[in-house]
Amino acid sequence: MLAYLIDWLSLLGRWMHLIFGIAWIGASFYFVWLDNHLLPPIDPALDEKGVGGELWSVHGGGFYNAQKYRIAPARLPEHLHWFYWEAYSTWLSGFFLLCLIYYGGAEAYLIDPAVAQLSPLEAIAIGVLTLVAGWIVYDRLCESALARFPGALLGALAVFLSAAAYGLCHVFSGRGAFIHFGAMLGTIMVANVFFVIIPAQRELVRAKNEGRDPDPLDAARGKQRSVHNTYFTLPVLFTMISNHYALTTGATYNWLVLIAMTFSGAAIRVYFVLRHKSGGRASPIPLATGLVSLAVVALLLRPVESAGLPDPGKAEAQSRESRPAALPSGQQMVALVAVRCAVCHAARPTQPGFVAAPNGVLLDTPERIAVQREKMRVQLATHAMPIGNLTHLTEEERAALIAWIDAGTPR
Ligand code: HEC
Repeated sequence: MLAYLIDWLSLLGRWMHLIFGIAWIGASFYFVWLDNHLLPPIDPALDEKGVGGELWSVHGGGFYNAQKYRIAPARLPEHLHWFYWEAYSTWLSGFFLLCLIYYGGAEAYLIDPAVAQLSPLEAIAIGVLTLVAGWIVYDRLCESALARFPGALLGALAVFLSAAAYGLCHVFSGRGAFIHFGAMLGTIMVANVFFVIIPAQRELVRAKNEGRDPDPLDAARGKQRSVHNTYFTLPVLFTMISNHYALTTGATYNWLVLIAMTFSGAAIRVYFVLRHKSGGRASPIPLATGLVSLAVVALLLRPVESAGLPDPGKAEAQSRESRPAALPSGQQMVALVAVRCAVCHAARPTQPGFVAAPNGVLLDTPERIAVQREKMRVQLATHAMPIGNLTHLTEEERAALIAWIDAGTPR
């Protein structure tokens, strides 16, 4: 019953997280787009009013005319709309999911004994610390003397994020590491809104009400953090879906994959921001760099002999293949799958904590195993399954299963 309840909480949590995230990122994309498409107002009266740029658009049955003031209008309107709940609720629902799935199920989702022998408490402590420390390090870097040289700050942030990716991939399971990297970036983004961007906006309003000029430093910091948030967006979204792709989280050098995918996402976003600014005539170099880096990752991870796919059992599998007499029978393999996999991958799983076949993957009959064999191979070769190795699959058994799959799962 508890597992069933947890499944529902997880479903509702994900649903909300997605909705809040769309509202936040949607608004954020819109404002970046808007800011970069403003044109100087044609009407001199607008210019006199202090309007620095305007934009005309048509959407959903009406014409819209957005105007951005150089500093502030002469009088603030009674109803001023703020955007922050989208960000806060995205973080809250995300943290709820992290606790429910990765901390509640640390042994299955967060810990990989082959990477590091951690107790659930140790793993959870490292996870929470990552979120807090990530923000502190990032914030200190932005406030340091480096911030006066954007190139140097970018370099320092790149080094810091790469180190975080490396570290996380050396303490957690692949999926646990990727989700924590994304959660750390997401936390930085929300903390930027909470600690810097919104306070800067409050200072704008306060200065306006007190009839003085706002502190330009506040505005500059707010702007800097907004820009960072824009570039973090695509990498964060990648990490959120990465769990479904053991080919990335389970790669031997998964930390390099994480760094390369983060780089690709940021570079692609750079291109789109430049494109908005230049009226569609941006240099294609950032886009090309992002796509080439994606293509390189895809090429390196291709499942061929000696490629990036990790399997310490491979050598063994090959030696078994060269001694076909040693290949266990199909029946033995089906029986092995029954105890190592089908305790979860059955219509009615017997493994505590599982109420239905995960991802709808059923491995309880020879026919179903044959249908799923390609997927099984990826999960086995990347060590993504059995999840958390809860059913204690040995490396010999893993190699034997892969060899059997490669032979076409003969009966
Ligand atoms: C303790 C439960 C458990 C055991 C045992 C287990 N799995 Fe899974 N499996 C899961 C969960 C949970 C998921 C869903 C992961 C996710 O969130 O995407 C999954 C997903 C999968 C998928 C689908 C991946 C995809 O891309 O959709 C395959 C294939 C798979 N497992 C194969 C196996 C094989 C092969 C074994 C045995 C060697 C195995 N599993 C053992 C829990 C288990």
